[in-house]
Amino acid sequence: MALELRGITKTYGTLRANDDIDLTIEEGTLHGLLGENGAGKSTLMKVVSGFIAADSGEITLDGQRLNLKSPQDAIEAGIGMLHQDPLVFLPFTVLDNFLLGSPGSTRLDRREGEAELARMSGELGFSFIPSRLARTLTVGERQQLEITRLLWLGARVLIFDEPTTGISANQRIQLFTTLRALAEEGLIVIFVSHKLEEVEELCDSVTVLRQGRVVGEAEMPIPPARLVEMMFGKIFVESDKPPATLGASVLDFGSCTISDGTTHIEGLDLSIGAGEVIGLAGLEGSGQRPFLRAAAGLVGPDSGSIELAGRDMTHSSYRDHLAAGVHYIPAGRLEEGLVQGLTIAEHVALTEQSGFLIDWEEADGAAQTKIEDYFVKGTPQSTVESLSGGNQQRLLLSMTPPGLDLLLMEHPTRGLDVESADYIWQRLLQRRQEGTAIIFASADLDELLRYSDRIIVFFGGSVFTVCDTADQDGESLGYLIGGKVRA
Ligand SMILES: Nc1ncnc2c1ncn2[C@@H]1O[C@H](COP(=O)(O)OP(=O)(O)O)[C@@H](O)[C@H]1O
Ligand SMILES: [Mg+2]
Repeated sequence: MALELRGITKTYGTLRANDDIDLTIEEGTLHGLLGENGAGKSTLMKVVSGFIAADSGEITLDGQRLNLKSPQDAIEAGIGMLHQDPLVFLPFTVLDNFLLGSPGSTRLDRREGEAELARMSGELGFSFIPSRLARTLTVGERQQLEITRLLWLGARVLIFDEPTTGISANQRIQLFTTLRALAEEGLIVIFVSHKLEEVEELCDSVTVLRQGRVVGEAEMPIPPARLVEMMFGKIFVESDKPPATLGASVLDFGSCTISDGTTHIEGLDLSIGAGEVIGLAGLEGSGQRPFLRAAAGLVGPDSGSIELAGRDMTHSSYRDHLAAGVHYIPAGRLEEGLVQGLTIAEHVALTEQSGFLIDWEEADGAAQTKIEDYFVKGTPQSTVESLSGGNQQRLLLSMTPPGLDLLLMEHPTRGLDVESADYIWQRLLQRRQEGTAIIFASADLDELLRYSDRIIVFFGGSVFTVCDTADQDGESLGYLIGGKVRA
């Protein structure tokens, strides 16, 4: 079995998202598709998995020419894809999601479905509670559910689009083990990533895309410098973080207890100063999110107090927090941060105008300014889902009001290429210089160590320790995240 793509071209207006792409992958191969944000990786994989139609080109699997008109066609041909933003239906249960699109002729009843889910997930070493709402699963668990479902539907080619963003270190290890096992079973596994280290660690072979074209192909291992060169055509120089100039306290937790079912943060005493950058480290679901949500006023503490700039906000709402200069950018850019279907101009109108009549000319103008100011690749009329992840994040940042006291972020650079991530941080550090305190959760040790003044490490649903970044290195921080202190 081999998957062959010939001359795949996909344009959006004048943009050639995929430009005459050829690619062959043999069975039993774990193949990396590497390239910076906007290189055209997701577009190509959506073509292969039937989500979008190419303008031209052919796909053959096993020597058979495929004519894919829908994801359903693709899955029937044996091709399944896990998307960058997992497409799990959040309001439904695990079992509902699993049974989604199950082979039409043999409709299973729920008992049979549950048995199938248990059997398939058992073979893969996953375990699910069928009645749980998909909403309550971590991103890593949602992926496991999708893998189980697609294999159950008979996938022989499995595509993973940026699967490590937003999952914990442990889940990543588990995911990689699964991917290797699937390739060893003879499947074609395509691992889409902009992260060089991951492709190096995991893949047998790699294709590098840049600006919609194949710019390199290689069997692994290959010197990383070669891959970087292919990806970017240039090497980046890192920027140094200017020293913090800490101001008065902007956020105070006084003996706070915050709980939300899985999390129990108790007796939290912490004061965060203007212009301070605080990184939240920990495995996914260790308490970072409730902490951020409490800081944003989305959940109240069970006991203790929360103050903003010396003002008691313990029982204040999210809106009160907004009014007090707090802004929260959540991890799910498309799920929570932006409104799908709306254009950039409509977003700007929503955030900046009030009242009944919208001045569209003004909204267009303001949108255009933001686009230019933040180098968003799009126009005021682009819908937000048409933007790449980096551009969505830039847009979110551009709509963040100026002069904030406190900016809360989850995974600010998740899924972004080096250049976009760097740009985001330039803008964030600029805000910090203006006195905004920044609290961000990240699964990227490098990002935590590079940008935080202090790091709060969460473990097992509570705060494990708060440390000065200067005292930590990657290894010691890794230990703390695992709930241990390096001897
Ligand atoms: N639906 C769309 N409409 C317009 N442009 C799009 C659409 N989808 C992707 N693009 C553009 O195509 C290019 C490639 O995007 P994508 O395939 O998502 O890249 P990658 O996955 O490598 O980050 C980007 O410039 C992106 O903005
Ligand atoms: Mg992509």
